[in-house]
Amino acid sequence: MNNHQKVMTLDEFTIQDLKNYPAATGQLSGLLRDIGRAAKRVNVEVNKAGIADILGEAGKTNVQGESVKKLDEFANDQFINSLRSSIYCCGVASEENEEFIPFTDAHSMNSKYVVLIDPLDGSGNIDVNVSIGTIFSVYRRLTPNGSPCDVNDFLQPGREQIAAGYIIYGSSTMLVYATRRSVQGFTLDPSIGEFCLSHPDLKCPPDSDIFSVNVGYYHLYEEKVRHTIDHFMAKNEAEKIYRHRFVGCMVAEIHRTLIQGGVFFYPAFGKYKNGRLRLCYECNPMSFLVEKAGGVALMDGKTRLLDVQPEQLHQRIPVFIGSKLLMEQMQAILS
Ligand code: AHG
Ligand code: MN
Ligand code: MN
Repeated sequence: MNNHQKVMTLDEFTIQDLKNYPAATGQLSGLLRDIGRAAKRVNVEVNKAGIADILGEAGKTNVQGESVKKLDEFANDQFINSLRSSIYCCGVASEENEEFIPFTDAHSMNSKYVVLIDPLDGSGNIDVNVSIGTIFSVYRRLTPNGSPCDVNDFLQPGREQIAAGYIIYGSSTMLVYATRRSVQGFTLDPSIGEFCLSHPDLKCPPDSDIFSVNVGYYHLYEEKVRHTIDHFMAKNEAEKIYRHRFVGCMVAEIHRTLIQGGVFFYPAFGKYKNGRLRLCYECNPMSFLVEKAGGVALMDGKTRLLDVQPEQLHQRIPVFIGSKLLMEQMQAILS
């Protein structure tokens, strides 16, 4: 960033952007600011995780049977509380809670949006100081304003998202979000405690030399998936050489894909017969972001992930996501 340039904070940006759309009510902008505020609190805890005795497991398992780390609980509480006290959200569904939470005070019930969150993604990375993230997704409710929300408000196909985004707690902390119009990236400036516009109008490079998948499961994947991996493995030095990356945090994989291009995939196999990643909390928001940035997101060789009708809040789905040209190569092999 050029030091002489005026930096625009997330609040300033969302308010300025509102002025371009006279019909907008400002509710979505308000919601994004509420999410940004919770993210800053989580960021503080993430940064002191090593000294504040919040490393390690909290001794419980979440609804998916995975162990819950203390930071997962903290992040879950922060986002839910921020949305509960907000006047822009009528309910939230979280990867950490079995059921969605309706907000039934008069202001919340009159708002038109529901939010889905994965409060801490990649939590296996916490203890080893590698990037983790938060993922969020916003839908317009189907139930009438003024009534409590219901589960169908949350079970909408991803193409209906109004906005989606993530926070990455990495070498710097960033908040990246997409609306139907564009993808914008903000970096937290710790000196003023504000997210500042650093990556305006993000576009996913159409081609790249990066592929990302857990190759540890290579022999467990079905044949066509193994062939896509083979496609990226150089047979001799005259061929295009791809770089393999796997962080174990979908937020980090997608962030890298938006900046440098590439493909990230988490296919189905054995114990994860429907894939591992969650449709509503992880794959839909990331697919929305990547599509809005010019990339492609599929659940197999042909089906657009954003067109899948969710049946359960916590359902899992295989995902193939990334740069347009690389995705076309994968599609040709998978279909
Ligand atoms: P979460 O921490 O929310 O459970 O998600 C972790 C996910 C995802 O971000 C990552 O891509 C994947 O788990 C890694 O799984 P494997 O270790 O099976 O590859
Ligand atoms: Mn996750
Ligand atoms: Mn999680």
